[in-house]
Amino acid sequence: MSLMSLPKAELHLHIEGTMEPELVFELGARNRIPLPFADVEDLRRRYVFDNLQSFLDLYYAAMDVLRTAEDFSDLARAYLDRAYGQGVRHVELFFDPQPHVDRGVPIEAVVDGLLVALAEAEQAGRMTGGLILCFLRDRGPDEAASVLRAAGSRVGSLIGVGLDSAEVGYPPGAFAEVYARARDLGLRTVAHAGEEGPPSYVWEALDVLEVDRIDHGIRSMEDPELVARLRRDQTPLTVCPLSNVRLGAVDELARHPLARMLAENLMVTVNSDDPAYFGGYLGDNYEACVRELGLDPHQVILLAQNSVNASFAPDERKAVLLAEIAAWTHD
Ligand code: ADE
Ligand code: ZN
Repeated sequence: MSLMSLPKAELHLHIEGTMEPELVFELGARNRIPLPFADVEDLRRRYVFDNLQSFLDLYYAAMDVLRTAEDFSDLARAYLDRAYGQGVRHVELFFDPQPHVDRGVPIEAVVDGLLVALAEAEQAGRMTGGLILCFLRDRGPDEAASVLRAAGSRVGSLIGVGLDSAEVGYPPGAFAEVYARARDLGLRTVAHAGEEGPPSYVWEALDVLEVDRIDHGIRSMEDPELVARLRRDQTPLTVCPLSNVRLGAVDELARHPLARMLAENLMVTVNSDDPAYFGGYLGDNYEACVRELGLDPHQVILLAQNSVNASFAPDERKAVLLAEIAAWTHD
């Protein structure tokens, strides 16, 4: 059976990173935003990155076209359609409100627009999901606290908060207060750590931010004590294999630490991060890992089960999804 039909959850997905070049141009025309790219092909040709920062520069430039709630609905709808076609049955979407608010887009328009598309997918019986508001770590903890305050009446519609953008030089510990506040508000917490940054950032995310999951975390493998800690607590790690290769965090997929992480009995999941930019959606990431890392069928099914168990879905929903995975394995 094709891995595209294996039911799975996606836990590390930046919705702005799902904007294909065609949609960038469509929204640019609709909103009359001049673009610094000649055409779709010119934009796609720029999808060659040396590191995280070179990607982020293009990612923030392209998202300039997002202006209205309808734009955010259209963006999420396009992602959800593709993801459904690759077996995604539950998704926890990251969004980056700071650059949108900078352009004068109210945070309510962002949240409400994304929620419209998620509600449609849920009503159609395709998938469940929710939103994780991410703070840009390179803009510091004071701005993060302001964004959380600005989310105001929409906080109750979120499932959690996260921490993303340029990692090196911006350790997670600085965000302790805003994470404590988020937890008081009933939100779950995650943070990017150990993508390009050192294992000490993963320790800080665990010990200072007390996160429920680590996003990426691949550099944890450099620190045996940290590996033991992650194994003991079965802390979920949302690993993004194609992203790591495209951003140069790993030199080739055949040497991606995912296989060692599985061998160490860590609670790993596979995710697509910014699939429009990195050459594949979730099913593509699973297929590439099987091909290049030689994962066996048990490991693939474990990854799908982990994705469900590491999600913030209610227990009843997890049970349904785990039963769907079991049914898939028996077909
Ligand atoms: N924002 C979007 N994608 C990201 C990534 N891979 N790491 C950090 N911040 C991001
Ligand atoms: Zn990410």
